[in-house]
Parts: sequence; C-alpha cells; structure tokens
Amino acid sequence: MKEMKKISMIEKYTVPPESNYAKLDANENLVIDKEYLTKIALDNLRKIDLRKYPIGLYEQLYRRLSQHLKINQRSLVVGSGSDQIIDLLLTLIGNGRRMTSIYPTFSYFKTRCQLHGIAFSEISLSSIDNSLDIDEFIADAKKSHAIYLCSPNNPTGNQFVKSDILHILDTLKNNLVIIDEAYVEFSKYSLTKYVKQYPNLVILRTFSKALGLAAVRVGYMIANEQLAELFRYRIQLPYAVNSISLSIAMSLISRPKKIQESISLIKHERERLYHALSKIKSIDVYSSDANFLFIRCDTKYSRIMKALDNSKIIVKGLGNIKNYGNCVRITVGTKKMNNKILSALKDIH
Ligand SMILES: Cc1ncc(COP(=O)(O)O)c(C=O)c1O
Repeated sequence: MKEMKKISMIEKYTVPPESNYAKLDANENLVIDKEYLTKIALDNLRKIDLRKYPIGLYEQLYRRLSQHLKINQRSLVVGSGSDQIIDLLLTLIGNGRRMTSIYPTFSYFKTRCQLHGIAFSEISLSSIDNSLDIDEFIADAKKSHAIYLCSPNNPTGNQFVKSDILHILDTLKNNLVIIDEAYVEFSKYSLTKYVKQYPNLVILRTFSKALGLAAVRVGYMIANEQLAELFRYRIQLPYAVNSISLSIAMSLISRPKKIQESISLIKHERERLYHALSKIKSIDVYSSDANFLFIRCDTKYSRIMKALDNSKIIVKGLGNIKNYGNCVRITVGTKKMNNKILSALKDIH
C-alpha cells in the first residue's frame, strides 16, 4: 500500500531502555519528591469509582486549572499529554497544508506533520545565540496555514523575544499560531493572557515537565473560547484522559508549594551547571530558560557521550545538527545528579 510505504519513511520514535541510570534525557522533573506524588496518587485512587466514565473529574480539573492560570475555564481543553493535542491540531490543519516552524525544534512535531501530510518548512536559528530572524520567518509563514514555535524551544532552551512573537501574531492573523509552552514554568514569560486578544493563538501546556507528572499523561491547550469549545465538544475524544490521571493532576495543582520549590531549585541548579560547564573550553553551553541545557560538543561528542555513559547517566545525544555540529541536551536533575555530570566530565577540557 502506498500510504504504508510513505509512513515507513518517517523517522522512528525510539525511547531508551529502562535502566538504573540517572535519566537526564527527557526533561522530566526529577527534583520533586517521588513519594509525595505517590501519596497523592494513592489517596486519589481510593476515591475513584473505576466502574464509571470520568465526568465530574473533568469539570473539577477545568475549575482548578482555571483558578491556577487565572483564565476562563472555557478557554481550556485537556488531553492525554500535549502530544495528543498536537495530533488533534494537525488533524484540524489537515493533509496538504503547510506549516512554518524553526530548526532545530521539538522533533516529534515535525514527524507528526509528516504523518498528517502537512509540509513542514523550517527556518534555521542562529547557531551563535539561537535567535530567530523574524522577517525571514514571517516571509515564509505567509506561504503557510499554521506556525509552530516552542517557547522556550526544545532543544535549544531559549525563549524568543516576546515582542517578536507578538509581532508575528499581529502580522499573521490568518495563520493558526501554535506556541508550545511545555517548559514555560522555568522561563521569563507566558503568552497565556493573549488568547483573548488573538483568536488564532493556541498555547500548549503539560503536566509532564515542571509539574513532575510525565507518567500521568495530562496536557492541555489554551485558546480563545470559541476555538477551545470546538475542540472540547467536537474534536477531542469524549474521555481522552482517565479518572486516575485527572484526579492526580487536579490534586497537585491544588497544592502548588512543592512544585514551586522544585522549580526554584531546578532554576538554581541550571545556573550552577551552566557556569560549571561553561568552563570547559572545547564545548559551548547555551544559556537556558528551560530545565535543560543545550551543548555544542563538536569533536568531543563521542568522548562526552561515553564519559556520561560510563558514569551511568543518560542524556539526549542529538548528533549532528545543521550549523551547530554535534550537540547534546542534558536535563537539569537533582544537585547530586548534576554533580555526577560534572565529575563525569572532569577530564574534558
Ligand atoms: C516541546 C514539547 N512539547 C510537548 C512535549 C510532550 O509533552 P507531553 O508529555 O505532555 O505529551 C514535549 C516532551 O518532550 C516537549 O518537549
């Protein structure tokens, strides 16, 4: 079948095998206490009637999220991770359409565009400071139906200039503008409040990163009420998220103190790791607005990957990125894990 042949050409998604290594490859929050989350999960499990479809819990999560974000609950749509919402958005954009994005960015998004038959045009970031040429981006986006920007960007870690993004929104009123804020809790600004002003803006958020619930699979989108309602009642599956996940997510955002503490600690550790790694002359570390560091390793790539592997640390080896050379992305972990990274790399100069 022609379709199957086409799909088999799409880059395969691979996950590392389960191991006892320090897992610093997927930007999870490994600082928040595991037992604290387990207790929340067990307390919730006892309250759930597993025989029933999740109905009331949806309403409760929407209410709490709306208080947490200070945004009308009619602007919110939850899904099974933001990955699932991305798929719905691409279904809406549709086969044969065109998307403008940046390079490098969240690779899953590009492969899903390929699966949905959406042409993916990418504007390269500057390898000097990861900045985006806004004029070049807008010129390309004028030929597209939608745009995707990750803010802060994965894997480069930076947020773009806020006024530049607002300029994009003002200029491209006919394009669907998807801003992926998966790492926004670690950054300088969020565009959440602008959904009222820009009916073409969709913001993606997740419980998987700063909130420490990657296993629970809850993500959500924020959009103007009309678009959000279309998604909630017509496009999204009626029960895309299960009761256990809904209740854990809801309980956690009702007690934001522990999350805030872990975010502050990660941001502090990010700066410490950044300064320590910046002393290694043969690599370039970029400053980050997220919970990971993007590092250009050039000829030291294999040595670095091997040294980390020998110390039982998994990072995201990105390989060769056009204009950047060989790069790795390292999640900022606990102080102990970060010290382990520094000691693994102590012989690299
Ligand atoms: C930029 C970005 N968006 C979305 C996701 C997916 O998040 P979720 O776990 O909510 O599907 C990730 C996960 O790596 C990500 O990096």
